[in-house]
Amino acid sequence: MKIVGVGHYAPPRVVTNHDLESWLDTTDDWITTRTGMKRRHWASEEEATSDLATAAASAALVHAGMRAQEIDCFIVATVTPDYYFPATACLVASKLGVTDKPAFDIGIACSGFIYGLTVASGLIRSGVYQRVMLIGAETLSKILDKHDRSTAILFGDGAGAVILQRSAEDSFLASDLGADGSRPELLYAEGSGARRPLDHAALDAKVHLIHMQGRETFKLAVQRMVDATGSVLKKANLAKADVTFLVPHQANRRIIDAMARYLDLPDEKVVVNISEYGNTSAASIPMALSETVRAGLVKPEDLIVFVAFGGGLSWGAVAWRWTA
Ligand code: ACO
Repeated sequence: MKIVGVGHYAPPRVVTNHDLESWLDTTDDWITTRTGMKRRHWASEEEATSDLATAAASAALVHAGMRAQEIDCFIVATVTPDYYFPATACLVASKLGVTDKPAFDIGIACSGFIYGLTVASGLIRSGVYQRVMLIGAETLSKILDKHDRSTAILFGDGAGAVILQRSAEDSFLASDLGADGSRPELLYAEGSGARRPLDHAALDAKVHLIHMQGRETFKLAVQRMVDATGSVLKKANLAKADVTFLVPHQANRRIIDAMARYLDLPDEKVVVNISEYGNTSAASIPMALSETVRAGLVKPEDLIVFVAFGGGLSWGAVAWRWTA
């Protein structure tokens, strides 16, 4: 199997660090040096995750020269679905004009694209489907406490899509996934699920919004992503020096830099677009991939490692050989 089309989309509204300064006790300098972020895109009141996902998927279809009807299955990785149900993927497929194909969501936060790539690869390599549309899409601005400076500065909205197709050459080399649900409170939106259904008290306590213990999450993110990258390379019988591009989840520039140091990867091998989009959770890796591919930087035979860490806690890496 291989990737035959990529696309991405971010809502037009840009929120800069200076904009955040106007209502938060923060500074452009603090945000830039602690996170590498300068701007993020936030959806309008009218835009929801399926709208962003549909825009990214449409761009990927154009890139692949394909019609939506040629896709056999639609998967959306998101933790900000339009509704509890139906799945956002059902809405996206129908917006693309497809109302008779399977569609489902994967909800594993920032690791969603890595899990999705592994699931989609399994479906294609086992012969179940020929073509799968995999989208990472989030509108995290909708579940942000805009007055909590420790989270409001971090998250943005966006979507990235890839079209995966059965082929003689196999791009998928290996996957390494993990999860540890013993400490969900490190990074979660507690409220409005079955554990804490939404009522007035829950709303007042803002339990439906993102809460994160940043310092602890930071350390675990570096360790888990370094380990997952090492494991996936080992499974694929490859070495760190073989990597052409590392496409990491864009959670914090300092996390990415620390990983690159552990893995001995020079800057030019590490894809970083965090200054423009902030942390877009499941969308960050496919957005970064789409930008890199569309810039003409990815060549046949390049070895790409995708790696992520996020809520769950969850993490994973996929080793991928780019084929034309
Ligand atoms: N502006 C100014 N000061 C701030 C801000 C802000 N926006 N936010 C926090 N501070 C202050 C704190 O109050 C604290 O002050 P104090 O020392 O007086 O108590 C000080 O800055 C340091 O705070 P820390 O939280 O220790 O800052 P840190 O350097 O750890 O950076 C950050 C915080 C950016 C959140 C970082 O910890 C981080 O990126 N964590 C990991 C995020 C991540 O990887 N998440 C997983 C993926 S996301 C997902 O799955 C959805």
